[in-house]
Amino acid sequence: MKHFINLKDIPANDLRKILIDAKKRKNLRKKLSTLEVDKGAPLKGKLLIQMFEKSSLRTRLSFYLAIKQLGGGTLTLRSNELHLGQGGESIADTAKILSTYGDGFMLRTDSDKKVEDFKDHLSIPVINGLSPSSHPTQVLSDVFTVEEITKKPISKLNICWIGDSNNVLDSLIAASVKFSFKLKIGCPKKFEPGQQVRNWVKKNKKKIFIYNDPKKAASGADVIFSDKVISLNDKVNKKNKIQAFKKFKVSKKLMSFANKNCIFLHCLPRGDEVSEEVFLGKNSHVWQQALNRVHVQKSILLYCFGKLR
Ligand code: CP
Ligand code: NVA
Repeated sequence: MKHFINLKDIPANDLRKILIDAKKRKNLRKKLSTLEVDKGAPLKGKLLIQMFEKSSLRTRLSFYLAIKQLGGGTLTLRSNELHLGQGGESIADTAKILSTYGDGFMLRTDSDKKVEDFKDHLSIPVINGLSPSSHPTQVLSDVFTVEEITKKPISKLNICWIGDSNNVLDSLIAASVKFSFKLKIGCPKKFEPGQQVRNWVKKNKKKIFIYNDPKKAASGADVIFSDKVISLNDKVNKKNKIQAFKKFKVSKKLMSFANKNCIFLHCLPRGDEVSEEVFLGKNSHVWQQALNRVHVQKSILLYCFGKLR
């Protein structure tokens, strides 16, 4: 049984296989409408249970469409509606029931430990739909989007992240190791990636490049990623953090330090970290990026269900 919890724990070959499958499937769907099922309905009869302890628009909808297009179905739960959230039912018992009724479990939570605890007790695959240290489905899909737009393997591109050290960046760092691309990070000193993730990069004999000057991070970039300065349930002093990021706003001026056709990507939702001009400009591909979640998550589901071609 394969789980999809952290990119760093998934072999690079498997990640590449998922992307290859997603590309084929996306091409084959060109004439199909939203809820039409892929030929062969590979996940016919399968139920994906999704549970959100935090808000979500894209992840919720894209997993709904993903499993539907593969011939299966989904049920979405909020933990505060379950005994787990309200009545103290254990993760072990909840997991046993989820495994009895469902075939796969997608969880968005504020606790990395909870994802691991579920993994230990489930007998069905678990997919991390965002946790404090990881947003793996987003980032694998973003690798797909980058390669789709640039028509180049990501290993040949310079990738830049302007923003704080959060779940999306941690997964992007993992992706930079797995897919061997150059990653430059621009953020204030106080918001740099932690020692644990840096040590992991070192252990894998790779490098990431960190700058406290956004221009240096953006220079020579083929892709600039950004994310909300204040993440969901971020416990920091918001005013101070926003102030610290003032000069890190992705503006047209900052984009001018990057390569000529540099693309802009953002997982959404957005805040003030990017100008309207860049976000809605011709180099921004954020809507295509959001839609690709459906295509890549289909192949992630197939991987977890042992049905990847
Ligand atoms: N990008 C992303 O995960 O969006 P949601 O929080 O809306 O799911
Ligand atoms: N870093 C953001 C991503 C949202 C999809 C957060 O955790 O809120």
